[in-house]
Amino acid sequence: MQDILDEITATLSTREDRGEVAQYIPELAIVDPQQFGISVALADGRTFSAGNASDLFSIQSISKVFTLTIALGKLGDAVWSRVGREPSGDPFNSIVQLEHESGKPRNPFINAGAIAIVDAIMMGHKPRETLAEILQFVRFIANDASIGIDEKVARSELKTGDRNASLAHFMASFGRIKHPVEQVLGTYFHHCSISMTCQQLAQAGQFLVSDGVNANTGVRVVSAQRARRINSMMLMCGHYDGSGEFAYRVGLPGKSGVGGGILAIAPGKGSIAVWSPGLDKIGNSKLGTEALEMLVQKTGWSVF
Ligand code: DON
Repeated sequence: MQDILDEITATLSTREDRGEVAQYIPELAIVDPQQFGISVALADGRTFSAGNASDLFSIQSISKVFTLTIALGKLGDAVWSRVGREPSGDPFNSIVQLEHESGKPRNPFINAGAIAIVDAIMMGHKPRETLAEILQFVRFIANDASIGIDEKVARSELKTGDRNASLAHFMASFGRIKHPVEQVLGTYFHHCSISMTCQQLAQAGQFLVSDGVNANTGVRVVSAQRARRINSMMLMCGHYDGSGEFAYRVGLPGKSGVGGGILAIAPGKGSIAVWSPGLDKIGNSKLGTEALEMLVQKTGWSVF
């Protein structure tokens, strides 16, 4: 595995076209696009890394996998009265479907869906308390108490968050947001601003590899059925309107973030975290996707 990761890293280091770093969040717009890291946590507990795998980056929408998992734990199937389970075929920050679909987001991974999920898990608590709960969960699944939030990124998102505020207010107009919109948004921006390394993120994905159990700690995080269902959501919706393309090229459940990270799960095999800040036109990591494509070709890990 180490040979494979070294080869992928070496091949991609010469790429000139690395995509564009996210521009709409000022703190992300200043990240150096030359960076690339990859980590694989195998089902048997061994881990392998290459490149900038121990550098922190903003996990952004990858955090939506963790908030969905928390929501399912707290609400069970009632989550699906708040968000749907269908790919949207529209950009991650799109508002159009909400008007025709009574303010119910298509899935928990588009921004509107993730905002509705935050509202669902707040359950009358303050943003600080909900964030503490989210952070505690991420630290637990990654088995790493050092994981934290980048306040600068969170403030930056808040400052330029007009689109997300629109989505939240629009949903509130349908009675679908129960807490004060500002509090829901603040919580959402902060969980998107969690910083992790590829190594930490690959660990955090372990429970989705082995039917809900983290192979390293031996602790069950969710039932086998729930792990399968979260993986199915990642496969169908994890890359927004690029989910079909990602399934075609990589063939694994995956969740991207505009920080340039991708968490991909090869069930029974391993959890893969890759990071390269430059994005394609849809907002998914350009080299990250290429790296996963190469990894799957070399390992035969596609689920298809
Ligand atoms: O709300 C936003 O726009 C960001 N915090 C997260 C978007 C994101 O990561 C989309 N992913 N590719």
